[in-house]
Amino acid sequence: MKFNEFKTEQWMTKYENEAIYNLTDTCVYPLTYKQLLSLDKDNTINDKVLSYGEISGDNKLKKEILKLYKTGSIENIITSIGCLKANESIMMSLLSKGDTVLTFVPSYQQFLDIPKAIGCKVLTLEYYENNNWLPDFNEIKDIFSKHKIKMIIINSPNNPTGTYWNIEMFNKLIKICVKQKTYILNDEVYRGLNVTKEVSISDIYEYGISTSSLSKIYALPGLRLGWIKASKNIIDKLLILRDYSFISTGPLIDNLGLIALKNKKYLLNRSKKIINENKKIVKQFVKENKQFELVMPEYGTVSFLSYNTKEKSKNLCLRLLKESGLFFVPGYCFDYEYHLRLTFTNDPEITKKGLYLLKELM
Ligand SMILES: Cc1ncc(COP(=O)(O)O)c(C=O)c1O
Repeated sequence: MKFNEFKTEQWMTKYENEAIYNLTDTCVYPLTYKQLLSLDKDNTINDKVLSYGEISGDNKLKKEILKLYKTGSIENIITSIGCLKANESIMMSLLSKGDTVLTFVPSYQQFLDIPKAIGCKVLTLEYYENNNWLPDFNEIKDIFSKHKIKMIIINSPNNPTGTYWNIEMFNKLIKICVKQKTYILNDEVYRGLNVTKEVSISDIYEYGISTSSLSKIYALPGLRLGWIKASKNIIDKLLILRDYSFISTGPLIDNLGLIALKNKKYLLNRSKKIINENKKIVKQFVKENKQFELVMPEYGTVSFLSYNTKEKSKNLCLRLLKESGLFFVPGYCFDYEYHLRLTFTNDPEITKKGLYLLKELM
């Protein structure tokens, strides 16, 4: 299998350590190990035996994960190494050479390039900025009338546009997909700021598969704890590859994850406060500076800022970084020019200073 370079990840790896004003990281600024451990009031973590643990994930952890959904049992959940590995194991387990996959752009490159590496035919449809970054359902119907689609891959809320698939949109999509028994893989890594409102595909569709993790709104990317929720039938298929791939996520990570989810109210309140303060600053900035436009997302941590100068996004981002330490992922990494990925995850004071510099340097 041959893989293309993952542009966003490469960009982050190469430049994020040079950033003084990081306005582009998708994870709410992370907790320290000490901060997380301080939530473990009874020191339960110290007594854990470092065996492989429960192979598909610690049962107590799975019970906490299950609370993030409306349906299912712990049989419908397995843990993973971040959401990235969760997505990868689904694609590797359920797709074969020659299958057709549909996904949307601009979005996360993994959804295009793993299926391509497997040998799938990958079709794409657009999220339209002039329609609040939403898809066109006539195009979806049309593409399903012409192709047998094995899997549709979505990320709701979406990186970078913030596109959020509400229940009406999902119901419309399911009506189309169910005829072909098409899997819907929804990467829900940005879901959960309002878990009752934000629908999960695995709660409403037999062939729906949800992936997520503690990286983004729970502010714990370094834990590398993710999970998958799907029907038992699908989970059984995924467990086959797991034995060859990483066996378990292990008691250390599972139990740290358990501490986090038992304290999710605290973590989510912390994140909501940071995100809301940032959103206020960004809204004001866009209102006052007409060379920028932004579709403000309802949920998630990311947005896609458009600007109206002629400078290409890669060049602009390198210049901003060099001249002032201001850091963005350019639209170039999403094959979508004249945009910057702007997030709501950092210290609001940094966002304020960063946006001021953006205006000055442009
Ligand atoms: C859509 C999407 N999925 C998955 C990931 C990776 O998540 P994790 O850290 O849980 O592996 C990211 C990170 O940027 C992402 O944006």
